[in-house]
Amino acid sequence: MSTSLWFPVGRIVPAADLVGREEFLQEILARIRAGEGVVISAPRRTGKTSLTLEALRRLRSEGWLVAHVDLLRSPNEAQLAEQLLDAVLENETGVRRTLSKLRQLTSHIAGKLELKAQTKEGLELALAYAATPPDLEAALEAGNNLAERTNRTICIAFDEFQRAPQLRPDAYAFIRSVLQHHQRAVYMFLGSQGTLLEQQFTRVGSPFWNFAVVRALPQVRPASWAAYLQRKFTEFGHPIDHVIAEEMAARSGGHPHCTMVLANQFLLALFSRRDLPQHLLLAAAYDAALDDLGATYDELYRSLAARSLAQETVLRLAREQPPYAAKADPTAVRRALQHLINQGIIRRRAKGSFDFCEAMFQAYLLRETDGP
Ligand SMILES: Nc1ncnc2c1ncn2[C@@H]1O[C@H](COP(=O)(O)OP(=O)(O)OP(=O)(O)O)[C@@H](O)[C@H]1O
Ligand SMILES: [Mg+2]
Repeated sequence: MSTSLWFPVGRIVPAADLVGREEFLQEILARIRAGEGVVISAPRRTGKTSLTLEALRRLRSEGWLVAHVDLLRSPNEAQLAEQLLDAVLENETGVRRTLSKLRQLTSHIAGKLELKAQTKEGLELALAYAATPPDLEAALEAGNNLAERTNRTICIAFDEFQRAPQLRPDAYAFIRSVLQHHQRAVYMFLGSQGTLLEQQFTRVGSPFWNFAVVRALPQVRPASWAAYLQRKFTEFGHPIDHVIAEEMAARSGGHPHCTMVLANQFLLALFSRRDLPQHLLLAAAYDAALDDLGATYDELYRSLAARSLAQETVLRLAREQPPYAAKADPTAVRRALQHLINQGIIRRRAKGSFDFCEAMFQAYLLRETDGP
């Protein structure tokens, strides 16, 4: 059961609110149990991290060692090494940020060796790591080492893995060269820039070629959203009609983050204007949700200025015009389209036609550029 009074936004989704992911989760878990590495690639805020943490939680309850590291949290190689070691060691020590706590502790204890003699495998390893500056190779080995020493298996998830080359230019080749020897570790790689990360695993000759299977996160089905929304609004004491629930899922395009933002605005509207018909409240909530998303969307649109024709092309698509304007250089438009795909903004529906990954981004562009 979720304990929150609101729909979860901008944070990890608790299991009870993870909508429409059970089937995909089962598939991912089956692959991992079979020892197969998995890449999950999807646009931003579609639930990669939440799904992965739920997968790890379940594996853990089956006796697996697990670890999750987020490359966005580590600006350099040494910090990634520390984060990874901490995540691995936490399995045994039960302590978050084991290494820094241990360093504090050992600086007060003269007889370090006595402490070492009393501890479990993991803590013994931790002492060894705490004594030396973090080293990425050692950190990459730690999970598999711990699994061997404890006769278990470990699943390690690298979140925002597309950032690896920013920590170290040869990161992909280096990490692969270490991980490929591991017999007791299975790896997950998550990335938000679809194609670019995928290429590392699918292009012949790339460092991670064939190392893990690439799975795109499927869209949550409208029926799953509608059922969830009806259940939650009833739990919150504001039951809603199924037509309204379906309308909400349709207007958000089923994008997980957008749907949750819209659901919160609708809940707020129901709290304050219960007397009004729900379809009117939904229209107002939709506008307020676009305002909530506005800052992110403005930033996203601004970031496109760096690419020739990207802003023009995304606006044409928002207006459902063909992307190739009469006077535009077709090669430049093709590059702009590819950039929009790489950024997870649009996806190809059929040859020459595209969908927005976030229907509300499209609506926002229309509202802001074609408004009164
Ligand atoms: N299956 C889902 N059910 C309900 N809400 C979801 C689901 N997946 C994602 N969300 C919503 O999207 C938000 C982002 O989820 P999460 O951080 O797991 O996604 P992500 O793809 O890892 O995002 P990012 O690209 O920022 O790393 C959540 O706070 C929640 O509002
Ligand atoms: Mg994430």
